[in-house]
Amino acid sequence: MGVAHTQHYLKTIYQIADFSSFRNILELPRMLWILSKARAYTMLDIPRLVFLYRLTREADSTKLPGNIVECGVANGGSVAVLAFAARGTLMKRNIWLFDSFQGMPKPTKKDGKMAFDQYHEGWLKGDPVRVKQIFQELQIPLNNLRIVKGWFQETFPTVYVGQITLLHIDADWYESVELCLHKFYDSVVVGGSIVLDDYGCWEGCRRATDEFLKDRRLTGEFRQVDSSVAYYFRKS
Ligand SMILES: C[S@@+](CC[C@H](N)C(=O)[O-])C[C@H]1O[C@@H](n2cnc3c(N)ncnc32)[C@H](O)[C@@H]1O
Repeated sequence: MGVAHTQHYLKTIYQIADFSSFRNILELPRMLWILSKARAYTMLDIPRLVFLYRLTREADSTKLPGNIVECGVANGGSVAVLAFAARGTLMKRNIWLFDSFQGMPKPTKKDGKMAFDQYHEGWLKGDPVRVKQIFQELQIPLNNLRIVKGWFQETFPTVYVGQITLLHIDADWYESVELCLHKFYDSVVVGGSIVLDDYGCWEGCRRATDEFLKDRRLTGEFRQVDSSVAYYFRKS
């Protein structure tokens, strides 16, 4: 990483962390600690993790009800940040985790050439044992954790997750992202957030999201998480 890149990276983190409030400054050591722990368990870079942390804290400070749902967990790094940020809240949130734990499914033609170039069986495979390990390392009680192992196509029809305050979709492909939005969007509370981790990176994720926003006539703000590949919007 060159000097200019490092400067930009640090500036991004600084902006997303939002030190305009005294409370956020006080929380800095806590946030840095969780980021240092989660890094070994995640494919996300630091700015995106900082963003997830802040979004969860914000939902707590505004007392938004609902659970946290992550679709695409792998080894649990990003969801550990979400769960850690939500820890100790009065909102009593359950954390729902959905993943095949067998790696990505095969892409389809809607995912574009890059997906086919990258894909092989077992690609991005995570391990639920590693997920529990990071939760234990962070001393996050496992009793609020709901790990749902299997293909979304099979598991989604069998679950009811209740209200959602934050939906983190990190599932890359068209079909996977489409399933997540159709299954969970209606459960997101007003003011809740939907984060698309791969919108700026994978063609399938972008297509599924654009189609969903258009079908539902969701014209509210759809924003990039600074200059990262992640995008998000709030339910209004
Ligand atoms: C990019 S990884 C998730 C990274 C993770 N959030 C982190 O912190 O490193 C994407 C995950 O989505 C899962 N996935 C994608 N589509 C799926 C589907 N249709 N059913 C189940 N799991 C799926 C894959 O198993 C993979 O572990």
